[in-house]
Amino acid sequence: MSVHKEVKKVTTHQLQEMKRRGEKISMLTAYDYTMAKIIDHAGIDVILVGDSASNVMAGHETTLPITLDQMIYHASSVVRAVDRALVVVDLPFGSYQGNSKEALTSAIKIMKESGGHAVKLEGGREIKDSIERILSAGIPVMGHLGLTPQSIYKFGTYTVRAKEEEEAQRLLEDARILEECGCFALVLEKIPAKLATEVAKSISIPVIGIGAGGGVDGQVLVTHDMLGMTHEFSPRFLRRYLSLYESMTGAFQQYIKDVKSKDFPNEGEQY
Ligand code: KIV
Repeated sequence: MSVHKEVKKVTTHQLQEMKRRGEKISMLTAYDYTMAKIIDHAGIDVILVGDSASNVMAGHETTLPITLDQMIYHASSVVRAVDRALVVVDLPFGSYQGNSKEALTSAIKIMKESGGHAVKLEGGREIKDSIERILSAGIPVMGHLGLTPQSIYKFGTYTVRAKEEEEAQRLLEDARILEECGCFALVLEKIPAKLATEVAKSISIPVIGIGAGGGVDGQVLVTHDMLGMTHEFSPRFLRRYLSLYESMTGAFQQYIKDVKSKDFPNEGEQY
């Protein structure tokens, strides 16, 4: 008799059931095998291989430079680590905005070469055709509205979006369009909590917020931010669960001291 217990994988359908039951959805980013293994083991529902890898892993100022092949490298490392979570992979800037055929080709390449379970695209009505074409190939799509970092040069700042009535109305309409065209869930980034709650109430697919308050169906944070590994970034919505920047610096300094003082390695740490 086998004692191996089969892990029940999170599916897009289950996330929709969670919304129906009122159970909140947890989502975090990961870009590498080791981090993804820990996050999955902790019991997260969704892992996002975000194009924030461009900032967090590569040190770029924006998410624009990361390429499709680089996203595939990150995503395939994450997929190898994950037993349970649903792995969603960002389509990077320039890989889907041209036309729907280009979007489909990029989404297929990500699914084939990374083994991810779904893709995420930023935008509303202007990318509807692309979303529909990707969905027609059987690839689940997560939407992303509000602050959309791939359009940073259009907006000029990372401030809260949709504070004015006209933009709020447009966002609400876009959320409905994304639901109608078949997205399984939606990320809302940095918009007023009241508007995010209204969006979550008016559509049946899960709405996952970052800086969008507690009235939505789930929350996502960038893992390196919530662990306190990054310390120059401190938006109001960010809750830090650890101060790893300080504790890691302390560990590195201790190691340097131990090497210099010949304390490391000791008798028991050699062959
Ligand atoms: O790339 C990313 O990490 C994201 C989240 C902030 C939602 O899109």
